[in-house]
Amino acid sequence: MTTIRPFRCEDLFRFNNVNLDPLTETYGLPFYMQYLAHWPEYFQVLESPNGIIMGYIMGKAEGSGEQWHGHVTALSVAPEFRRLGLAGKLMNGLEEISERKWCYFVDLFVRVSNKVAVAMYEKLGYSVYRRVLEYYSGDVDEDAFGKFLVKISLHLVLVNL
Ligand SMILES: CC(C)(COP(=O)(O)OP(=O)(O)OC[C@H]1O[C@@H](n2cnc3c(N)ncnc32)[C@H](O)[C@@H]1OP(=O)(O)O)[C@@H](O)C(=O)NCCC(=O)NCCS
Repeated sequence: MTTIRPFRCEDLFRFNNVNLDPLTETYGLPFYMQYLAHWPEYFQVLESPNGIIMGYIMGKAEGSGEQWHGHVTALSVAPEFRRLGLAGKLMNGLEEISERKWCYFVDLFVRVSNKVAVAMYEKLGYSVYRRVLEYYSGDVDEDAFGKFLVKISLHLVLVNL
């Protein structure tokens, strides 16, 4: 059984098993704290019955006017808990929160070489809308796919009526 609950400050000291993955970015503490303070509803963690952090998602709502949207900043599931549909559940949760906030779409960036994540986002309905050159810095900079998902929200349906 897996619990999805809001991320807490102390989880920052317990999520190394998830972040040791080379495709998972580790940020400075202030970055996580900023997300916890501003968008706590967008920061959710998966926990096993014996208290192991299985994965998490961190995001936000941003933009103005028709660009008001949800954004996925980080999504990672620990290797031993992959392919159980957990990332899909976290994404569904973030999309639901974005719907409730009247967001027009959800977007994210993903490494062009990250075939597993690219496949997952495509399965979830996301499309590539641009390629950002050298978005990821490193020994060799890497491009990112900017992906987005548009959902017909209640407010759009009402406008269309
Ligand atoms: C990408 C990641 C989050 C997927 O997590 P997950 O919990 O294993 O994903 P799910 O089980 O929800 O998979 C959803 C779909 O993604 C695709 N997928 C997931 N893992 C896959 C794999 N190894 N090979 C091919 N497709 C895969 C499948 O279509 C899958 O659906 P299916 O199992 O019904 O076929 C996980 O591999 C991860 O944490 N990777 C490292 C960090 C990362 O890349 N994060 C994304 C950064 S933008």
